[in-house]
Amino acid sequence: MLSSVDPWDSQQGSGNTPELERVLIERIASEGPLTFAEFMAAALYHPRHGYYTTAARRIGRDGDYITSPEVHPVFGGLVARQLVEFWELLGRPEALSLIEAGAGNGTLARDVLATLGRAALPVRWDYTIIEPHPAARSRQQETLAGTEFARVRWADSLAALPPTPTPTVVLSNELLDALPVHRVAVLGGALREIYVNYEDGRFHDREGPPSSPELERYFQALGLLPGEGCSAEVNLGAPRWMVEAAACVRRGFLLTFDYGAPAAALFAPWRRGGTLLCFSHHAAGQDPYVRIGRQDLTAHVDFTTIARAGRDAGLETLGFATQAEVLTALGIGEGLAAPGEGTLALEQYMQRRAAAVELLDPAGLGRIRILVQGKGVGEPLLRAFPPGAATLHAIESSPEPPGKDAP
Ligand SMILES: C[S@@+](CC[C@H](N)C(=O)[O-])C[C@H]1O[C@@H](n2cnc3c(N)ncnc32)[C@H](O)[C@@H]1O
Repeated sequence: MLSSVDPWDSQQGSGNTPELERVLIERIASEGPLTFAEFMAAALYHPRHGYYTTAARRIGRDGDYITSPEVHPVFGGLVARQLVEFWELLGRPEALSLIEAGAGNGTLARDVLATLGRAALPVRWDYTIIEPHPAARSRQQETLAGTEFARVRWADSLAALPPTPTPTVVLSNELLDALPVHRVAVLGGALREIYVNYEDGRFHDREGPPSSPELERYFQALGLLPGEGCSAEVNLGAPRWMVEAAACVRRGFLLTFDYGAPAAALFAPWRRGGTLLCFSHHAAGQDPYVRIGRQDLTAHVDFTTIARAGRDAGLETLGFATQAEVLTALGIGEGLAAPGEGTLALEQYMQRRAAAVELLDPAGLGRIRILVQGKGVGEPLLRAFPPGAATLHAIESSPEPPGKDAP
């Protein structure tokens, strides 16, 4: 019936998940405004209505955004090369425990294990995926159903893993930028927090005092504040995750891929509006209050804070570089000989070339940062990482000019 359609109802057609909206509206009515971290935790991870907890496919060409493993299996192949270097640096142990957190569709695990299997090295690769959400776990199990080279196990959390004497590598791609963030702003020289309120039939920002002293301590530890009038995101879960990950490694490495920057660049005064982005059908948006539970929310990672959290938990920073630099050094250019010069068919050549361009794109996946940390391994030089940047100092003191890392 036409008259039942209210043309002034701004929620209509917005694509929001009504159940999730109702949950959030009721929560705000009873508890008051939510921190943005609470809102984002519900939007992405509500057990029944969250973006990542429902069965819908989110990552890939047929989803909302693309990640490196979904571009081409060569990404997993190159990550496998890095893992082989770690294995060599660990003295070629007979078993190496690989732990991947936030494995998405399971594509990286599949491609890493296929490459390692073909290499037939004298090592047993024990692969564990940390996946708290049953729908994502089922998808990963489907992807990995034919995996013949290693036994893959699943666990709900890093904390649930039994301690192991086996050398370990903890691996993640775009996990930390998917953890809930607080939103803050600096006004009149003071740190304020941006909450989520519901009034007059809409969700909107509401400014107030910080919800936790941890937020002020976060910036005190960095010795900086975002610029006057700027908003920014604070991911308190990322350094906590780093401490948990460090606890899983008695001897070994952490390999962390994520969008982000050192703190000096992330909280630079020219970055007026933070880095929060929303993704739906491969389009980036900036309104977190539409398509709640049906669009991705993400914010850049502060690599200074996570490197320091790692250092305090016994991890040495060994490398820090962009994906473009590292994949190039790992040999992405190999196998791109023009079709006339080798046996490569034209179609395969074009696919490989397009994949390399996408994975190295300095305005896209190529600007992802890669952090390598080690425990009990000394300070080895890594073949794919520029030695000058391989220190904690480099992460802490590399201010970048405006625009270089703009989202
Ligand atoms: C941005 S996606 C990246 C997926 C995948 N790594 C890729 O590259 O395609 C982030 C994933 O991390 C998962 N995740 C979020 N919190 C997590 C946690 N505490 N432990 C493990 N996975 C988590 C989410 O469910 C989601 O699948």
